[in-house]
Amino acid sequence: MTDLAFTRTEATRLPTEDRERILADPGFGTHFTDHMVSITWTEDAGWHDAEVLPYGPLQIDPASSVLHYGQEIFEGLKAYRRPDGSIVTFRPEGNAQRLNDSARRLALPELPQGLFVRAVQELVAIDADWVPTAADQSLYLRPFMIADEVFLGVRSARRARFLVIASPAGPYFTGGVKPVAIWLSEHWARAGHGGTGAAKCGGNYAASLLPQNEAAEHGCAQVLFTDAETDDTIDELGGMNLFLVRSDGTLVTPELNGNILAGITRKSLIELAQDRGHAVEERPVTVSEWREGVAQGTITEAFACGTAAVITPIGQLRTADGRDIDFGDRAPGSLTMSLREELTGIQFGIRPDRFGWLTEI
Ligand code: COI
Repeated sequence: MTDLAFTRTEATRLPTEDRERILADPGFGTHFTDHMVSITWTEDAGWHDAEVLPYGPLQIDPASSVLHYGQEIFEGLKAYRRPDGSIVTFRPEGNAQRLNDSARRLALPELPQGLFVRAVQELVAIDADWVPTAADQSLYLRPFMIADEVFLGVRSARRARFLVIASPAGPYFTGGVKPVAIWLSEHWARAGHGGTGAAKCGGNYAASLLPQNEAAEHGCAQVLFTDAETDDTIDELGGMNLFLVRSDGTLVTPELNGNILAGITRKSLIELAQDRGHAVEERPVTVSEWREGVAQGTITEAFACGTAAVITPIGQLRTADGRDIDFGDRAPGSLTMSLREELTGIQFGIRPDRFGWLTEI
């Protein structure tokens, strides 16, 4: 299965000057490369028809399951250009594994890890000219799987498609690496016990949009979700994980309790920090603890992390009751920035890949 042969259909490529104009200021998620990958699955034949084809609209029957019951999962990873011009991806096998964790929860077929990595490599190789050379820019890769059986009954689909598209990306938050304000969601939860919180499925993100709009209305870049039962225990942000830093250098982050996403950036930062000798506590973390810690000076930094966000310092948590938590001019914190520098240094080939995290294209 992993050695499934890919057929390649060359696209009419965007003229060089147009591509270069896009790469000069790619933004996030608005421009796409010349090709995409598609692999089909049917219950009878398994995974087949692996194709690299021109990027373009999908033909999808209006009765496809994904359009009605949201049977969809996705991933996010990046390809980076190193100073010698070579291109690498960061821990793609971790994304392959997480895709399969999500697939099990959403009753979609698992994709062999090798096939996932091959699919990503095929796309990056054919669209290598789209991998930016500028600092802090990369090629964001979006693998996803949709159920496309034509059937309106509510059961897991017998036909699905795995696709990969690619988009040149600058910083996720406009304004670069500046501390952001985040909004504490008062009414809405992201996940509940036994739900889909740990799966990277479109439905989780759809449900985050109303609270995210509320955050934006309050001048915040992201929404922070707490646990539905306590309204105090932190889950995660709308699209990223959260860390607090204590004054003794300990990192504290919500444990993987089935409600939050097992971020690959989260995991990598834990490994980097532990390697430097920092203690890392993965456990329930509350907004109350954060508030008291900042007031007492025992919590000195907070940051968001994810593939898209990389590491983004948090300057403020705003709340509906006005009991904001504010790091003021202490943000961004020094550990936040030095972890960011080390992680991106490895990804962009400026620091040695001493953990073996990179896969060369
Ligand atoms: C990512 O970080 O890759 C995500 O999927 C999150 C999304 C907010 C872009």
